[in-house]
Amino acid sequence: MTAKSPFIYRFEAGNRADAPPLLLLHGTGGDENDLLQLGAMISPGSPLLAPRGRVLESGMPRFFRRLAEGVFDEEDVRHRALELGEFVQGARSRYGIDAPLAVGYSNGANIAAALMLMDPHVLSGAILFRAMVPLTDPPDAQLDGKPVLVLSGQQDPIVPADNAAALAAMLSAAGAKVDHRILPVGHQLSQADIALGRTWIAETRNQATVS
Ligand code: MLT
Repeated sequence: MTAKSPFIYRFEAGNRADAPPLLLLHGTGGDENDLLQLGAMISPGSPLLAPRGRVLESGMPRFFRRLAEGVFDEEDVRHRALELGEFVQGARSRYGIDAPLAVGYSNGANIAAALMLMDPHVLSGAILFRAMVPLTDPPDAQLDGKPVLVLSGQQDPIVPADNAAALAAMLSAAGAKVDHRILPVGHQLSQADIALGRTWIAETRNQATVS
């Protein structure tokens, strides 16, 4: 569906009032369909909002431009993060949903981290699969205890371990409540990612209900 949006996207209404809306952000070469199943597995009943990245790299959709593997065009990262934030705000009023929890993989996780830092009120939190630092000099963000789960791969050939750790530290310094786990896997998603994501969402939801 593309109504009134520069993004191609899919929206699936949820059927559980206590399940948080998810913003699903695919990796390089993916599209709006990629993470729908993952979203339904980690948070059954959640409304799912899944845009397709608007940048094309050799025909592969992405959420921002890069100059080389792991070297980002940071001006574009900033611009695209704000553009994505506007899309989310529009979708929230169109569908009547709360601020979503971003669930991003690889390039999608990187734009989710950038969006948190650029426009903190858009997201309620994030699960970042195989993320790295998207901005070397981010603005001073106030993340006010927003929950963030960072899941990294010990043998990830794309995301160096120190870069993932630097991202976790950057988000913590901005006030997020970060849980960074390092799994014995590479860049691809694993069953462990899904299980951890599912447990984390359930625990985070329970904490929000209790507090
Ligand atoms: C990126 O470009 O965002 C990261 O290097 C991950 C990737 O998409 O390969």
